[in-house]
Amino acid sequence: MSNPPNSFTFFFTLTLLLIANRAHPPEQPEPDTPVTRFQNYLRISTAHPSPDYYAAVSYLKAQAESIGLHSRTLHFAPDKPLLLLTWPGSDPTLPSLLLNSHLDSVPAEPSKWAHPPFSAHRTPEGHIFARGAQDDKCIAIQYLEAIRNLKAAGFNPIRTVHVSFVPEEEIGGLDGAAKFAVSDEFKDLKVGFVLDEGQANPGDEIRVFYADRTPWNLIVKAKGMPGHGSRMFDNSAMENLMKSVELMARFREAQFDEVKAGNAANSEVISVNPVYFKSGIVSGDGYAMNMQPSEAEAGFDIRIPPTVDPELVRKRIAEEWAPEARNLTYKLIEKGPTRDYTGRPLMTQTDDSNPWWSIFKQAVAAAGGKLAKPEILASTTDARFMRQQGIPTLGFSPMTNTPILLHDHNEFLKDTIFLKGIKVYESIISALSSFEGGSR
Ligand SMILES: *[C@@H]1O[C@H](CO)[C@@H](O)[C@H](O)[C@H]1NC(C)=O
Ligand SMILES: [Zn+2]
Repeated sequence: MSNPPNSFTFFFTLTLLLIANRAHPPEQPEPDTPVTRFQNYLRISTAHPSPDYYAAVSYLKAQAESIGLHSRTLHFAPDKPLLLLTWPGSDPTLPSLLLNSHLDSVPAEPSKWAHPPFSAHRTPEGHIFARGAQDDKCIAIQYLEAIRNLKAAGFNPIRTVHVSFVPEEEIGGLDGAAKFAVSDEFKDLKVGFVLDEGQANPGDEIRVFYADRTPWNLIVKAKGMPGHGSRMFDNSAMENLMKSVELMARFREAQFDEVKAGNAANSEVISVNPVYFKSGIVSGDGYAMNMQPSEAEAGFDIRIPPTVDPELVRKRIAEEWAPEARNLTYKLIEKGPTRDYTGRPLMTQTDDSNPWWSIFKQAVAAAGGKLAKPEILASTTDARFMRQQGIPTLGFSPMTNTPILLHDHNEFLKDTIFLKGIKVYESIISALSSFEGGSR
């Protein structure tokens, strides 16, 4: 038997339903916006040592399809995919524009973060926390969103626009951009100008980089007569190595003085930083204190700006810092080119002799952006591999009023800055893809 529902049972049931709903809110479909698409890309961990490249590539490929861009996945090394998108221009004989970003990121230590590094948590102020938020997943999605908007507005490029998402940048790019830049596939793109990643600026100008420094790793090894710790004698391994360390420290100080005096930016001098010393005869959980070892070794991180002649530095290493005459040997690992294929320094012209620069500069201004004075990047990006092919390449990530947090804990980007960047790229991409000069 059942009673017809009266108003009391109706309201009672409604209250129960409301309580139940509060405990388990109905599944809201996630809004699909440029910001959520950025967050979803950030949630795919492409951090070393085990970047999930295929998840990232399939996500970006789906984005490209939704925009109507042709995509290709290339492999220059097993399990290291490179995604290449193409927006064909009406005049394919003109050199093309390439927008590059890297898929991978450096690792993150979750315990040191306020929000989990792959949650892409967005705070009420709009800060999106994630490893890769600044370096460099922001530009990857900004490129795509800018193209999405231009297409929706009916814009048709004259020259072809390519977008590449490359693996391995954070570990030197050798299986990524380095191989891509010398490939037949790359040659076929007829690239005339490249935009790659830049860096944030706490101020309100957008930074732009026309060169990178080239990293060198130097390992100096010394051999010498061993001896009792109490004896003074000449030319022990330690003495010969310490002489090198002294000379290098003096050189480093002279370079750094230029920076301290305001004569040069950090990125404009040669940096020489000791990163390890290795020697001693292990004894117990320490070292034998009464033995002078027969071998000693030291490692240095050296960065060469494109404005110096690398040959002079090589000579200084061979003759002064690690000469055979002091029974030293050395290993120099040059991690990337210092000159382009014609022998010119790897620097992109940032004056009116480079038509791409003029158009780029005007396009940034037209979008309300203010460019900072062009700089050399203190560290290194994949841009060097493009410059080595003689292709003008700028490092550019439109992040103003943003603390520099690449490779740091709590890396974040503010949503409004991210969205403003899309507008800047719309202006740049439309301008660079529709001017007719710029053959190289
Ligand atoms: C280098 O090694 C040789 C052979 O052991 C030794 O005779 C010479 O004194 C050493 N020279 C220096 C500068 O250490
Ligand atoms: Zn980067």
